[in-house]
Amino acid sequence: MGRATPFMAMLAVFMAMLAVFMAMLAIIGLSAATATAQGTLNLYCSVQIEWCQAMATNFQRDTGIRVNMTQRGSGETLAAMRAEAQNPRGDVWFGGTGDPHLAAGEENLTQAHESPNRAQLHPWALTQWRQSKQRAVGVYAGAVGFGINTELLARKGLKAPGCWSDLVDPRFKGEIQVANPNSSGTAYVIIATLVQIMGEDPAFAYLRQLHPNVNAYTRSGTAPIKAVARGETGISLSFVHDAVTERNAGFPVAYATPCEGTGYEIGSMSILRGARNLAEARRFYDWALTEAAQRLGFEAGGQLQTPSNKAAPIPPNAPDLSKIRLIEYDFARYGAAAERKRLIERWDRDVGALPR
Ligand code: F6P
Repeated sequence: MGRATPFMAMLAVFMAMLAVFMAMLAIIGLSAATATAQGTLNLYCSVQIEWCQAMATNFQRDTGIRVNMTQRGSGETLAAMRAEAQNPRGDVWFGGTGDPHLAAGEENLTQAHESPNRAQLHPWALTQWRQSKQRAVGVYAGAVGFGINTELLARKGLKAPGCWSDLVDPRFKGEIQVANPNSSGTAYVIIATLVQIMGEDPAFAYLRQLHPNVNAYTRSGTAPIKAVARGETGISLSFVHDAVTERNAGFPVAYATPCEGTGYEIGSMSILRGARNLAEARRFYDWALTEAAQRLGFEAGGQLQTPSNKAAPIPPNAPDLSKIRLIEYDFARYGAAAERKRLIERWDRDVGALPR
């Protein structure tokens, strides 16, 4: 008995450890099986990070599909998709300006999808879908304008700009920020807008004249309005919804839309050609078009674009696009891959290369 007791105790401990080990194996096996069953989605996202995160978290919660999200500007995402074309790493691309989505469709980097939820969308979102041969659909819209730090301009005694022509005034020397069109879709929309308003050669002459007033060409399209909010620059060329987001966050920011008229974006969504998780990508696409998902831009991300789902409310204080003098932006022409490439290369030569 004296020798049997420690042996029995050791056996009991061993059995208990074995039971724990078996239980752990069962749990690991179960969760692996569940993850496989529920799937994974690689999301490329080109709206602001708060909105991207809200889309990833809510989709994961609603469907159990695990989301790996990468946030990058519109031009940067298109460049990544081109580089990965032989071995696509993304499944779906949410947000970002519409032109690079159209270019991606034309370059066969994305694929058609006919969502059962498309009847819920505004006509402009479906025009984008048809124009892209069903490869890109509109998820929101927003207009280009000027972001203004009212306190900074008042301190410097500068009257805020109201027209494109005001921006080239020497009084704004070093006072303006705008993004670089190689990485930013916003910057490309601005260039295409000026070309449509002025004609191509006068638009590039204007951009060269503007150059001394520009203190930085940023990578991201939203960096200039954030610099305005922080008081680092007086004026930005931005989507005006982003100016309201900064004002709502408590910064002394106002916006103006140019008196000569202005361009706008149809923020879009596409499924990548060769997506490894195609079923999950289609599920995300359909989900992202629902009213509930389209509320997330404002409710979870503080974003103020106009949603493409007709039932999704326009966020309070969002710029009213029907009151802005919008041009007839020619999406087919300026979303064409060759035209986009040509205009960006011209910007690099004529403007980006100018000495600072
Ligand atoms: O998310 C804000 C936003 O202004 C979108 O409306 C727009 O599609 C996107 O940023 C463009 O970002 P970028 O200019 O960096 O491509």
